[in-house]
Amino acid sequence: MTLAIVAAMREELAAVLALMPAETRSTVAGREFFRGRLHGQEVVLVLSRIGKVAAAATAVTLIERFDASAIVFTGVAGGLGPGVQVGDVVVADAFLQHDLDASPLFPRHEVPLYGKSRFATDAALTARLAVAAGAALPQARLHRGLIVSGDRFVATTAEARALQAELPDALAVEMEGAAIAQVCHDYGLPYAAVRTISDRADDAAHGDFLRFVQEVASRHSAAIVAHLLA
Ligand code: ADE
Repeated sequence: MTLAIVAAMREELAAVLALMPAETRSTVAGREFFRGRLHGQEVVLVLSRIGKVAAAATAVTLIERFDASAIVFTGVAGGLGPGVQVGDVVVADAFLQHDLDASPLFPRHEVPLYGKSRFATDAALTARLAVAAGAALPQARLHRGLIVSGDRFVATTAEARALQAELPDALAVEMEGAAIAQVCHDYGLPYAAVRTISDRADDAAHGDFLRFVQEVASRHSAAIVAHLLA
């Protein structure tokens, strides 16, 4: 049983990597994978890099080459839901690709030939992750629900409002989660994801995001992972 822990950027995982000094490193598909034990559990850590293609390639490599039996993603996201503020935590129940549109052949957002637009996360692993996030960050507000992904950093209030209008139950937006959800669906692998809100995907998103990833993201990931594996 090897749990894969994935983040997009080094800033989101540095403190978790530091917890595992005796790891074995290998490079596959241009990415460094760190294998070792954390709190007695076999883990493999990796930085996917940014975007859906990078995330999907990472997930396939984790499954095919590193025998991952479950994947947990940790990182940051832009808040979309009205009550989802910077510093809050969102645990995903499902993912959707907000920039996927093969209409009129298929309904907007539907993944062609899958017959659906939403990919649920694993209920049991998600429940464990939500408990871990709540224990790690007791001062943060915790939300559960839909996270949407797309190959765009959403950094204008106009675009954030358009996404809210189109997908009113979307809590947060990021750039990787739905790709991993689809790969895990294909392989029948449990998947769960937690995102701390770094910005509101609005006109101030760029500065808020950079400040947050430099100052807090990695510590939050490390605290949540420590509680998940404890
Ligand atoms: N990840 C963190 N903030 C984001 C944003 N505003 N858009 C896309 N991905 C993000």
